[in-house]
Amino acid sequence: MNMKSSLTLLLTICTFLLYSSAELDGSLTYIWPLPAKSSSGNDTLSVDPELSLVVGGRGGDSSIIKDGFGRYKKIIFKHGSKSYPVNKRSVFDIGILKIVVLSDNEELQLGADESYFLLVEKRNGQSIIGEAYIEANTVYGALRGLETFSQLCAFDYETKTVQIYKAPWYIVDKPRFAYRGLLLDTSRHYLPINVIKQIIESMSYAKLNVLHWHIIDEQSFPLEVPSYPNLWKGSYTKWERYTVEDAYDIVNFAKMRGINVMAEVDIPGHAESWGAGYPDLWPSPSCREPLDVAKNFTFDVISGILTDLRKNFPLWTLSLGW
Ligand SMILES: *[C@@H]1O[C@H](CO)[C@@H](O)[C@H](O)[C@H]1NC(C)=O
Ligand SMILES: *[C@@H]1O[C@H](CO)[C@@H](O)[C@H](O)[C@H]1NC(C)=O
Repeated sequence: MNMKSSLTLLLTICTFLLYSSAELDGSLTYIWPLPAKSSSGNDTLSVDPELSLVVGGRGGDSSIIKDGFGRYKKIIFKHGSKSYPVNKRSVFDIGILKIVVLSDNEELQLGADESYFLLVEKRNGQSIIGEAYIEANTVYGALRGLETFSQLCAFDYETKTVQIYKAPWYIVDKPRFAYRGLLLDTSRHYLPINVIKQIIESMSYAKLNVLHWHIIDEQSFPLEVPSYPNLWKGSYTKWERYTVEDAYDIVNFAKMRGINVMAEVDIPGHAESWGAGYPDLWPSPSCREPLDVAKNFTFDVISGILTDLRKNFPLWTLSLGW
């Protein structure tokens, strides 16, 4: 390429970049997944960095709501804002998020009601509710509403405030699919607990609701099973294990985000790691891949694993492998 054509190419690229960045419309609002029904307007509303939570309904007092609000507040105001004196607070359009949860039933299962209604509107003479309002039948619906609310909030780099464009927003939403899952395999590759938690956290951004935790497979058996304490001798190393308490911690962490954890134990194939602790589970020393289904002991062990899993994983469904 000669000098002139290189220059032409460079100019073309620069022009393209200039145009494409000029076309970026900062006021575009992306909600993912797309709500079942929504309508928007043309107002821009500013959100108070000291946004406060007001709860109502039988389920409004839940720690799931309080913690969820705290998490989303950090996401919404991740840039930090200029500080405003208390008497200047009226400069913001939205100072309160009200969350009403009608039921106090916090059981999380497939098919739990995750519907919600979200309204964001400038307070004025006509509107009786005003500001930001989420109503849901369950705490899990309210969490989905909080996620949507956080997606409406955009940081404006000019004013260094958080803005909601295209208000008023009226959103009526519920998931189209009861099961929205992500599979994690911690047998082929051990994942530390904090990594699993980051993944669960990120699932909530896409409103996924099932972590399919493929804990155990041929390569390693990282989970503690109290009924058969030698099973986790099949872990890669003794540091690459999950205690019963770790599993409980992960299930609870997920529940606080409206996410079920479905455990998977592969039966009867892919079971080499089981025999590290109990070689009798193998058909023979040279055949270590499937479980020996001719022995009663094999069924005792399976039964022990499932009984122990049942204590830690409240979801009705378990996966026995695929
Ligand atoms: C918003 O502005 C657009 C363009 O000016 C207009 O077509 C539309 O009707 C307005 N929407 C509302 C809800 O006012
Ligand atoms: C295995 O269990 C079955 C059913 O409980 C029983 O009838 C059978 O005798 C057991 N076999 C052995 C070898 O213990």
